[in-house]
Amino acid sequence: DVMKELLGLRHLEMSLSQQLGVKQVLVVAGDSDEDSWVKREMGRACIGELKARLRPKDVVAVMGGTTLAAVAEMMTPDTQTREVVFVPARGGLGEQVENQANTISAEFASRAKAQYRLLHVPDQLSEEAYTSLVLEPSVQDILKLIKSASTVIHGIGDAQMMAERRDSSGSFIDKLKREEAVAEAFGYYFNRAGQPIHKQRTIGLQLDDLGEHKYVISVAGGRSKAEAIAAYMKYRPSDVLITDEAAARSLLRVP
Ligand code: G3H
Repeated sequence: DVMKELLGLRHLEMSLSQQLGVKQVLVVAGDSDEDSWVKREMGRACIGELKARLRPKDVVAVMGGTTLAAVAEMMTPDTQTREVVFVPARGGLGEQVENQANTISAEFASRAKAQYRLLHVPDQLSEEAYTSLVLEPSVQDILKLIKSASTVIHGIGDAQMMAERRDSSGSFIDKLKREEAVAEAFGYYFNRAGQPIHKQRTIGLQLDDLGEHKYVISVAGGRSKAEAIAAYMKYRPSDVLITDEAAARSLLRVP
């Protein structure tokens, strides 16, 4: 029955919180590898968390991906959301437009009737172009805003899958295999121990910027992401992890 089901999920949340060292874990029913509505359910849970914390004039930085796109779809306006500013956490990572952080941050803002700012950075930047771009006053302005974000919402992906989806070169995909990358988040790739082994060059929030003062919400589900979630949480346990039952059971090795 419904009650038992709820109690079961609650148990997964508590066990996972302990195993991963994440203060708060929310588990929704289902497997987002199998059913796309599960991403929207994680989205609903994420919006609830976000709204419980938001203060007017807060800056919220969001990353890209299909999960974050589903989270944005669940946003609704509220008195405390109107003065919030949504920004992309980092520049382009080679995603299709609907999965880009810029697009998703604009979608959050439009649904929340809030504000947004875009960060225009080409995906493939040379070192020189990168160095001069970050000196542009308009880019500096938005970067300052991004770094001031109180809250960051991001997805976590499987390393190989993300590299392929972003059309990375064969040599890069080989490097990920050699170095046993399992997770991707923010354009960083991590091994099983949670050590960052590669960073995609783009401006915006860097891993070191996720200090203690930012409230970080990770949203990632599906059985296929269990290993990636475990690896990333070793690097920096998030304040909140929103996941699904299939990932939770796989992480906890319960059938
Ligand atoms: O940056 C993207 C995430 O790492 C995962 O993307 O939500 O489409 O699986 P996804």
